[in-house]
Amino acid sequence: MISSVKKLPETGNSEGNDDQFFTQLRQQEFSRLDEQRHVYLDYTGGNLYAQSLIDRHFDYLRNAVYGNPHSSNPTSQLSTQNVAEARRKVLNFFNASDDYFCVFTANASAALQIVGECYPFCENSHYVLTSDNHNSVNGIREYCRSKGGGYTYCPLHYQDLTIDEVALEELLHQHAECKHKLLAFPAQSNVSGVKHPLSWIEKAHSLGWDVLLDAAAYVPTSRLDLKQVQPDFVSVSFYKIFGYPTGIGCLLVKKSKFDLLKKPWFAGGTVVAVAVNYGAHFLAEDHERFENGTVNYLDIPAISRGIDFIENIGMERINRRVSQLTQTLIQRMQALSHENGKPLIRIFGPMDMKQKGGTIIFNVSDADGNVFPFEEVEQQANAALISLRTGCFCNPGIDEINYCVSTEEMVKYFSSRKTGNMHDMFEFLGYMRGAIRISVGIPTTMGDIERFINFLQKYKDKKAVEMKVGGEAVAA
Ligand SMILES: Cc1ncc(COP(=O)(O)O)c(C=O)c1O
Repeated sequence: MISSVKKLPETGNSEGNDDQFFTQLRQQEFSRLDEQRHVYLDYTGGNLYAQSLIDRHFDYLRNAVYGNPHSSNPTSQLSTQNVAEARRKVLNFFNASDDYFCVFTANASAALQIVGECYPFCENSHYVLTSDNHNSVNGIREYCRSKGGGYTYCPLHYQDLTIDEVALEELLHQHAECKHKLLAFPAQSNVSGVKHPLSWIEKAHSLGWDVLLDAAAYVPTSRLDLKQVQPDFVSVSFYKIFGYPTGIGCLLVKKSKFDLLKKPWFAGGTVVAVAVNYGAHFLAEDHERFENGTVNYLDIPAISRGIDFIENIGMERINRRVSQLTQTLIQRMQALSHENGKPLIRIFGPMDMKQKGGTIIFNVSDADGNVFPFEEVEQQANAALISLRTGCFCNPGIDEINYCVSTEEMVKYFSSRKTGNMHDMFEFLGYMRGAIRISVGIPTTMGDIERFINFLQKYKDKKAVEMKVGGEAVAA
């Protein structure tokens, strides 16, 4: 017997009741956080799973026999049905049932790799991407380059890390002669939390561009309705939405662009006919074309329970809650100051929630404006059982903007050595880069925020070692 969906706390779905609702939900579904005294603030890195999600899924695994879905025997059929059910749920979740295929992948990066590998880049193609992008989107430029195509980064505004829309408009009007043109941007930045305008999808289409929307950081707390906006390709990782299962993402491919993707090889499960004594094959005509080998058929059904969990709370309510918590955090962090009135915290990116999700990046400074190395802050947070993240977050573009890193500096660094790493780069540049990232999610409570603010307060009037910071960063 598979246990039914666990009843959520009963409070009305009005703004006033949110705090009570989410506090009860924390006790019911995420009590392990309090039992082990963790303050988890890395929801953009990975969400936490609800207790009922794994209970239901383990019941599911315990109570039936599941075979490899590539057969027609009864255990195989059971797996096939449950994978199909999860696929249906994903398509419904994004309101994409009529227009998109859902290709299950290992994660968002694997979804992005399919686009990189199969998009028909050629000498006559161009790839435009925003400076704010995860490395798994940046990396697609190498596929484009290897096929002789060009790429251009669209800059961001230094002040608030939003897209320079004048520059983007100009870029999209260029390359009129190009055959295949791809624009890629994140619906929400995994670093600054900025939500970039989805209206660029339609604008780019009208100018002949295909659009890849990296929705990995957006969909955990915002509804993506693929009837309202219709990018050609969308990348998602499910652990970012409901914490479990890890190792599964998807690529949503608009059906009308399905044949544009040219798969350069075939694998088991992706073909409907292959000859060995003659070099020919027919690829599957649906999602199967891109699902190499056996899909993760034991964990994919857990996606159905994850979607149930989110739908039971309601995405609008999650969005509202995350927005309120983030606003509170920003206000409380900005209010922290040293005895001489100098701020303790410098937040990068916008301060209001108009176009921002639940992610904040910042540095901690002393009363003279010297920045505490992020490693030091991280170590002390670790000791206080606060899970946050530091560094460049696989998004070097944002960090280059925040620290005004010049192209000349990067040319010098990369042409001076065959191999290196971030620390080696900081040393070469002679100044510090990187920041601290916190992000909130469904389980976050005011108690977490209180403990985090108390932690930051320990830096009040503490002295940091004087060190050079990049570009205008300290002056801003
Ligand atoms: C915006 C964005 N894109 C892509 C990725 C890559 O996701 P994954 O590591 O699950 O492949 C991430 C992960 O943090 C992300 O935040």
